[in-house]
Amino acid sequence: MSKKSKGNVSNSFPGDDLISWYHKNGRDLPWRETSDPYHIWVSEIMLQQTRVDTVIPYYHRFISAFPTIKDLAEADRQSVLKLWEGLGYYSRARNLQDAARLVMNDFSGVIPDTYDEIKQLKGVGPYTAAAILSIAFNKPYAVVDGNVIRVMARYYGINDDIRSTRTKNDIQHLSDEAIDPAQPADFNQAVMELGATVCTPHQPDCAACPISGRCVAFSTVKTDSIPYKSPAKKVPHHQIGVGIIINDKNEVLIALRREDAMLGGLWEFPGGKKKESEKIEETVYRELAEELGVEVQVLNKFMEVKHAYSHFKITMHAYFCLINSGVPSPNDSQELAWVSVAGLEEYPFPKANKLLIEKIIQNGLPELS
Ligand code: ADE
Repeated sequence: MSKKSKGNVSNSFPGDDLISWYHKNGRDLPWRETSDPYHIWVSEIMLQQTRVDTVIPYYHRFISAFPTIKDLAEADRQSVLKLWEGLGYYSRARNLQDAARLVMNDFSGVIPDTYDEIKQLKGVGPYTAAAILSIAFNKPYAVVDGNVIRVMARYYGINDDIRSTRTKNDIQHLSDEAIDPAQPADFNQAVMELGATVCTPHQPDCAACPISGRCVAFSTVKTDSIPYKSPAKKVPHHQIGVGIIINDKNEVLIALRREDAMLGGLWEFPGGKKKESEKIEETVYRELAEELGVEVQVLNKFMEVKHAYSHFKITMHAYFCLINSGVPSPNDSQELAWVSVAGLEEYPFPKANKLLIEKIIQNGLPELS
């Protein structure tokens, strides 16, 4: 904790009050109705960077498609990604399935319950390890996510930048001290619940808070300024040109992204990043030549879609195209497929492509001949 921080770290944490509040006020969430470590693991992976309301329907669909870890391990990759479509951060799904396969092969299908072993699973970092070990196995590991950081920073009056690793480590340390070793599952869920429903980023409902009586930010009227988060760095914004290539059977060409790439294992319309000197139509022409080895005629613009990823933004410009010469080959992808408009629904796509597809399904393809 820096000297600048006026935190009161000797303020012991009222875990019992918070847990009693949680027992009365906690939401009924589907992953709270199970003690199956696999189900809890799936929920915790889905909940990374993603809101509870968004996760609930994905969780239900995923668990009914793959009710056991064996089902997930044996599933084909595309069906796993299809069920993740729209949830984002697709490496979570790939890692989850790789880890399920590892558990089947190396742990006889039993999810390990020690920190060192569970951390060996792909996609399981300190947060997820603590969440699974505490919620599924009732082991005393404190979770620290965005909600917990906010609750702890306010309670202890920590005004250091919560973007910094040092502040996060300080808060991890305070949470490790605060956790009730007799009820770690309830303690962790209670802190997260308070952060999600009462100790919200804006206009927290301090009147409803079971621990406001000893909260430093509340008593010093600083809930607006704590936690402090330094401004985000500006992220790059790329212009992307893509081609919706149509053949004489009224099919469109899609490409499977390489497993090891961002959005790996998902399909997309071929295309790529605009160069400074290019017009966007020229980007489409060049990218399709490079990625597919074909020369296309770039026709009319179909649609523009904006999308924000964690570290950059894109505007995708989609153009209908016809092949003038050449046969497409997957120079920059795992595989290519010609697919009818109705058939597009079978494949997993990233969100921006999905928006194009919804409009294609609505409007149909243009008559080009
Ligand atoms: N966010 C992360 N884990 C959670 C959980 N178990 N319940 C509610 N929100 C969460």
